[in-house]
Amino acid sequence: EKAKDVVLEEDLSLPQAVKTKIKYLEKYRGQRVRISGWVHRLRSQGKMIFVVLRDGTGFLQVIIGGKLSQVHDASLLTNEATIEVVGNLQEVPAEKSAPGGHEVVADYWKVIGHAPLGDDSYLSRFNEETGPSILADLRHLVLRGETQSAVLKLRTALLSSFRHALDALDLKEVTPPCIVQTQVEGGATLFGFKYYEEEAYLTQSSQLYLETVLPALGDVYCVQESFRAEKSQTRRHLSEFTHLEAELAFITFDDLMTHIENAICDTIDHLLATPGVSELMKVLNPDFKPPSRPFLRMSYADAIQWLVDHKIQHVTEETEDLPDAEKVYVDHVLGDDIAEAAERKMTDEIGRPIFLYGFPSHLKAFYMQKMKGPAGEGPNGMVFTESCDLLMPGVGEVVGGSMRIHDADELLAAFKKQGIPAEPYYWYVDQRRYGTCEHGGYGLGVERFLAWIGNRYTVRECQLYGRWPGRATP
Ligand code: 4AD
Repeated sequence: EKAKDVVLEEDLSLPQAVKTKIKYLEKYRGQRVRISGWVHRLRSQGKMIFVVLRDGTGFLQVIIGGKLSQVHDASLLTNEATIEVVGNLQEVPAEKSAPGGHEVVADYWKVIGHAPLGDDSYLSRFNEETGPSILADLRHLVLRGETQSAVLKLRTALLSSFRHALDALDLKEVTPPCIVQTQVEGGATLFGFKYYEEEAYLTQSSQLYLETVLPALGDVYCVQESFRAEKSQTRRHLSEFTHLEAELAFITFDDLMTHIENAICDTIDHLLATPGVSELMKVLNPDFKPPSRPFLRMSYADAIQWLVDHKIQHVTEETEDLPDAEKVYVDHVLGDDIAEAAERKMTDEIGRPIFLYGFPSHLKAFYMQKMKGPAGEGPNGMVFTESCDLLMPGVGEVVGGSMRIHDADELLAAFKKQGIPAEPYYWYVDQRRYGTCEHGGYGLGVERFLAWIGNRYTVRECQLYGRWPGRATP
């Protein structure tokens, strides 16, 4: 018999096979099962074909032997083809290892969809030397790999853990619009577009909307895409990112920081207890230790002093675009922005989560509440605000939060000072006019948080299809 003449037929006299997903297999040991998936790994040995099958829920070793390995389709079989396999599920002997500790010995199989062979084969499309730009072009294929799919699975579990933690803290989830006509975090990073006959923007943050919902629903949160036209290419900036934002009414600044700490620690506890996550963490970040409470709190002024004491300088504005050898570095002084490099060095040196709080108003957005009493007054008219950034080792800032100006007149004055026309914000101002309250909230960058938990070098790996300057495909 020539291989291509062999036609396989399923033996209908055998016991009925259970159709299931790989993750549920353990309870069907000793029975006939039917599994469909993608060929993740493939090895032929004489008349035996060993396949590791992948279905998104797990990996399964399959043995195709005898006549089953002699069909024409077997000679065409390659990585990423889809197949259906039917056979007995057997525990593997202790000295052999297989995912899940079992394997299927096929009595029937068929190809559902072939994958290309030769130069166009999955494994030929990229290898260790393939550069980041080609990997980004091939993201749809890269996602199928073990590391990247582990990151995305961790992301799924993380998102549901956030929701679990915030629901338990009595916040309600809402879905604000992405199409907006107001800025939140400065005009420089706005993506504008024509909305019918009007100007509109892609949202930078849903904060203003969340504030207006407080009187209707009480404390709220959202998980929404935010958009920033970030000009620079960095490890932690995306043009589109998933923004977890929350807003709480009738709180103090101290309450806000305590809430953020609890929300984060509860999320991590839930995440690590989620089935399957410990396997993912073993692949991605085996040394991860949940942070202990309370997080270190450090004022902006103390951070500047820390940087001076530890000789961490910053490059002067005049020389930042010059070649490295010509750059001039100087000490930080009160009022300076703490840029990414300095912030990262400080966080890595301290080695634990840090709440940096009390930033000067000129470094922050228009809506931030001034600190109460003398704490709010700095030298030369500098004003310190009830603002906080949470910094994590390896990543830097993952959360930005603040108390909001809750007095309508003070808010209007803040718009004026920053040269922002107040009229489009009438609904935001009304939140203060119709029964105001002290309130505050925060935004957490999901990709940055995931980069921290999953130990990724860049946030670009932490989105399904990352968006950064020059990249909107696939
Ligand atoms: O500090 P940001 O700009 O704060 C706000 O947008 C507030 N309106 C949020 C609020 O209070 N509701 O952004 C919050 C967080 C940052 O700490 C960072 O983790 C993330 O959002 N983020 C980005 N992540 C990836 N790429 C970017 N371009 C990001 N910009 C901000």
